[in-house]
Amino acid sequence: MKTVIKNISELIQTEQTARKWVAGKEMSQISTIKNAFVEIEDGIITSFGSMNDWKGIEDWNNIEIIDAEGGMVFPTYCDSHTHLVFASSREDEFVDRINGLSYEEIAQRGGGILNSAEKLQNTSEDHLYNISIERLNNLIKMGTGAIEIKSGYGLTLDAELKILRVIKRLKENSEITIKATFLAAHALPKEFKDNKDGYMDLVINEMLPIVAKENLADYVDIFCEKGYFSVEDTKRLLKAANKYGIQAKTHVNQFNSIGGVEASVKLGALSVDHLEEMKEEDFVSLENSECMPTILPSCSFFLGIPYGPATKMIERRLPVALATDYNPGSSPSGNMNLVASLGCTQMKMTPEQVINATTINTAYAMGVEKELGSICVGKKANLFITKEIPSYSYLSYSFGENLINKVIINGKITA
Ligand code: NIG
Ligand code: FE
Repeated sequence: MKTVIKNISELIQTEQTARKWVAGKEMSQISTIKNAFVEIEDGIITSFGSMNDWKGIEDWNNIEIIDAEGGMVFPTYCDSHTHLVFASSREDEFVDRINGLSYEEIAQRGGGILNSAEKLQNTSEDHLYNISIERLNNLIKMGTGAIEIKSGYGLTLDAELKILRVIKRLKENSEITIKATFLAAHALPKEFKDNKDGYMDLVINEMLPIVAKENLADYVDIFCEKGYFSVEDTKRLLKAANKYGIQAKTHVNQFNSIGGVEASVKLGALSVDHLEEMKEEDFVSLENSECMPTILPSCSFFLGIPYGPATKMIERRLPVALATDYNPGSSPSGNMNLVASLGCTQMKMTPEQVINATTINTAYAMGVEKELGSICVGKKANLFITKEIPSYSYLSYSFGENLINKVIINGKITA
């Protein structure tokens, strides 16, 4: 089946050769083609260019024409950090925070992640699947075409496996690319309040081998933070996961810089995420590494905590990725358009830097850069078509507005 998208006012983020990621000064550049077409065959981009160079259609059989109606075409967003599988919302804690409690105080009195874990333990797998696929379909409508989803609201063997099986079902039933991350080391369950090593033993010696054997996780994660898990815990888990060939994506430096970046980088993490608090040594660890620094601006927006220093990272020639952190506690939004706007308005990134940070660099941060993240021959045709907009900068400028007209996944109009 062949498809041609025509009448595209501007085709955004084109690549002649697929790059690994975009870093430093290069982040300020994107390639685009005005008045463009895209050809797709069996869900893969086979050709694109200016309408002036379009050779037309030889065989009108089995061809679908999609009219972009003068909108722009972008590669879909890759959201490389989410906790999409959760049992219910936590707006009561949101109100508590408005009334003066801090995120840490709410967690200390049994709210936060433990609250979500208790709810999830009491939710059936089928219900969890049904609410999760609905959330996922909503995100696709907002332009997300690849997503990483973490466990971490289970905190028991059964409940962690329940989440990972839900993610597996999402992978089987959704058209978009999904990666699963095992995050049992997300918070210390009540039963292990005074026995952190006991919980780490459970995670490493009992949960991880089953998760690996059943092939339920592409990545492993840990919340390396004061009051949660230490750098030593992080090293222990990452070393154990490496033995199973499972790479890490870690939660580090959300509230404190305690050495999690260095440990993660040394143990081959694919990405380090959050990075609101960065010390000089954290930058140094990232330099000349293969690890993608990933910032989560909607978490900063929602919790009122500092934004990660994206422009400083770019000045230091690092790449930067931006993801949503979609979860009920610190970012109850999985909208990558909002992330893009926050990147510009709050973090002073340019629209070009934001486009690179939400497509090609997030594709790398979830291991799909060879197949997604740009308009490139041989990559998957996961694209969105905008309404008519005056320039690509308008997308991040016009925050809160829905500018996406159609979403194409694997070459088919999906939303
Ligand atoms: O990435 N910081 C750790 N985990 C999540 C929040 C979890 C929650 O509050 O439920 C995050 O922000
Ligand atoms: Fe997170």
